[in-house]
Amino acid sequence: MLIAYFSLSGNTRLIARDIQRMTGGELFEIRPVRRYGPDFDTAVEQARQELREQARPKLKETISDMSRYDVVFVGFPNWVGTMPMPVFSFLEQHDFREKTIVPFCTHGTSGPANTINDLKALPLHATVRDALSVYRNDVRDAEGRVRAWLKDLGYLKED
Ligand SMILES: Cc1cc2nc3c(=O)[nH]c(=O)nc-3n(C[C@H](O)[C@H](O)[C@H](O)COP(=O)(O)O)c2cc1C
Repeated sequence: MLIAYFSLSGNTRLIARDIQRMTGGELFEIRPVRRYGPDFDTAVEQARQELREQARPKLKETISDMSRYDVVFVGFPNWVGTMPMPVFSFLEQHDFREKTIVPFCTHGTSGPANTINDLKALPLHATVRDALSVYRNDVRDAEGRVRAWLKDLGYLKED
């Protein structure tokens, strides 16, 4: 299993680490070359512009051998209603045919919005399982929810 995630302020990373501990999968951080910020308003402006342009920001690293993984967790924050554009870059730069994608999302007051539907609309030819969405103020107390979700999906490592 692979747990690929994008996180600017650390919330999605916390969930990714919970998943890593509970499944034993490998972690991969989706890191764009260009930085967002330094402050929130600048990041929102950058995100809006990238969404308008349907940008596919260049990533620092990609996965060299995706065939090693059958199940790929893909985690991201809600950015202006959809996934951050670097997550689109990641999804489009790898071959997900015959794989299972398990999305997870952190968000503010607007919830996961279109994130999951936009992921499902990409022509990835993968099976997409039920997503977990966590409000940003709840990420530190989300272990129980993460565990229950993984157990339902059948990915919880026996401990
Ligand atoms: C550029 C940007 C855009 C955002 N847009 C939204 C949004 O449209 N709706 C929402 O509920 N939260 C929005 N947020 C809040 C994030 O989804 C939330 O804080 C998330 O947990 C951040 O995850 P991270 O710490 O892994 O980066 C936005 C945050 C940023 C930085």
